[in-house]
Amino acid sequence: MKKVYINTMGCQMNVYDSRRILDALFVLGYEETLFPEEADLLMINTCYIREKASDKVFSMLGKFCQIKQERKNKGLSTYIGLAGCVVQALGDEVFKKAPFVDLAVGPQSYHRIPELLAKLERGQARSIETNFTSDEKFGALPVAQARAYSAFLAIQEGCDNFCTYCVVPYTRGCEYSRSASEIIDEAKQMVDSGAVEIMLLGQNVDCWHGLGLNNDKEWGLARLIEELAKIDALKRIRYTTSYPVDITDDMIAAHRDVDKLMPYIHLPIQAGSDGVLKAMNRRYSVEQYLSVVDKLRQARPDIAISSDFIVGFPGETDEDFEKTLDVVRTVDYAQSYSFKYSPRPGTPASLMKNQIPENVKSERLTTLQALLLERQKAFNLKFIHQTLPVLLTEKGKQDGQLNGYSPYLQNVHVTLPEEYLGKIVDLEITNATASSLTGQTIQERK
Ligand code: 5AD
Ligand code: SF4
Repeated sequence: MKKVYINTMGCQMNVYDSRRILDALFVLGYEETLFPEEADLLMINTCYIREKASDKVFSMLGKFCQIKQERKNKGLSTYIGLAGCVVQALGDEVFKKAPFVDLAVGPQSYHRIPELLAKLERGQARSIETNFTSDEKFGALPVAQARAYSAFLAIQEGCDNFCTYCVVPYTRGCEYSRSASEIIDEAKQMVDSGAVEIMLLGQNVDCWHGLGLNNDKEWGLARLIEELAKIDALKRIRYTTSYPVDITDDMIAAHRDVDKLMPYIHLPIQAGSDGVLKAMNRRYSVEQYLSVVDKLRQARPDIAISSDFIVGFPGETDEDFEKTLDVVRTVDYAQSYSFKYSPRPGTPASLMKNQIPENVKSERLTTLQALLLERQKAFNLKFIHQTLPVLLTEKGKQDGQLNGYSPYLQNVHVTLPEEYLGKIVDLEITNATASSLTGQTIQERK
C-alpha cells in the first residue's frame, strides 16, 4: 500500500474531514502513516481562522518540501497536498506562495481528491478544486469508519451569521444540513465499528434541520438526538458549536430528558460588552446570553458550560474588557478557549479603524486566561471524592495509564489495563488540576 501523512490543523470539523479524506484515500490504496518521511502523499488540512493558524501552514509546507527533496534523492516520488480553509480563502494564490504544492482542495471538494491524484499520476499538471456544494461532498465520499471510541460526525456545515471578525462563512460557505437518514446511518456504522460516544459537529449546530426518517416532517436537532439515543450501543451524545440564541426550547428540554445527552454545552459568548457584541454582529445581548444559561441550568442543574472569547476586538475599551471578566465570574465556565482578535482578510472587522494595539491585546488575554484557569481549576476541584462515570478513550502518556472523559468533558487519568478502553467506568476522583482529574476504579458500568 502507498502511504499518506496528514497533519490536521484547526477545529473538530477538520478532524472529521481528515478522517473522511483518509477513507477516500484508503479506497485508492493508501494507508495512513504517522511518519512524514515515509509518506508518498503529504497533506495538511489547513485552518484560516486566525493569522497564526494560517502562518503555521506555510512553515509546515517548508518542512514537507525538504522531505520531498530528500525522498527524491533516494529515487522516491512524493506528492504534496493542501486541504481546508486556507485553500478556499487563497485560491490559486496558494500555488504562488507554495509552488511545490501538487494538489489543493477546499473544504467542500474532498470527494474530488481521488480524481486530482489520478491526474497527477497520469503526469498532468497540479490542480486546485474549490467547488462549493456540501451535498456533493458528503454524498460522494465513502462512509467514514470510526477509528475512535469517541467519534466526530459532521451534521451541518457552513454559517450564515457573518460575525464581522470571522472567515468561516467565506471558507465553509452557507449553512447546509445533512439529512437525518444519512446521519443516522453514519452513526450506526460508527457504533458498529466501536464508537461509544458521538460528537455531532456543525459550525452552527443548533440550526441543523432536515427531513425526518420515513419522510416525516422536518426535524430539528433535539429530534435527531432523540433518535440517535435509540442506538443501543451508543452511550453518549454531544454536540458543538452552539450559537447562544439559536438554542431551541426543545434542545433545552433534551438536556433534561435525554440521559445519553451529556451535560455539557459549548456556548461561545465572545465578549461581555453589548457594544462589542453589536460591532461583532452577534445577535444577542449579554442579558439574553445569561438568560439562555439560566434556562439550561434550570433544565439540567449540573450542566457544564464552556465558551470562546475574543479579546481586543476593534474599539474594545478597558471598560468593555472588564465586562468580559464579569461574565466569566457570573457564568463560572467549566472550560474556555480565548484568543486575541486577529484581523482576517476580507472581513468587515479587519477594515474597522479602531484596531487595538498588540500589547493591549496580549495584556488582556493574559488577564482573562488567568481568571479562566482559576475558575476551571475551581470547577475541577469540586469533583474530588465524587464518583464520575468516565469513558476511557485512549492510552495515557504514562505506562499502564488510560485517559478518558467525564460527562462534563473533563480529561481523566486512571491506572487500568488496556482492556478497559472503550468502556465506561465509575471512578472515584482523587486529584484535580486545572486541566485534568485523576481517578481510581470503583466499577465498570454495564
Ligand atoms: N480572531 C480571533 N478569534 C477568532 N475566532 C474566530 N475568528 C477569529 C478572529 N478573527 C474565534 C471565535 C470562534 C472560535 C472558533 O475562533 O472565538 O468562536
Ligand atoms: Fe464564525 Fe460567527 Fe459563524 Fe461562528 S457563528 S462560524 S464565529 S461567523
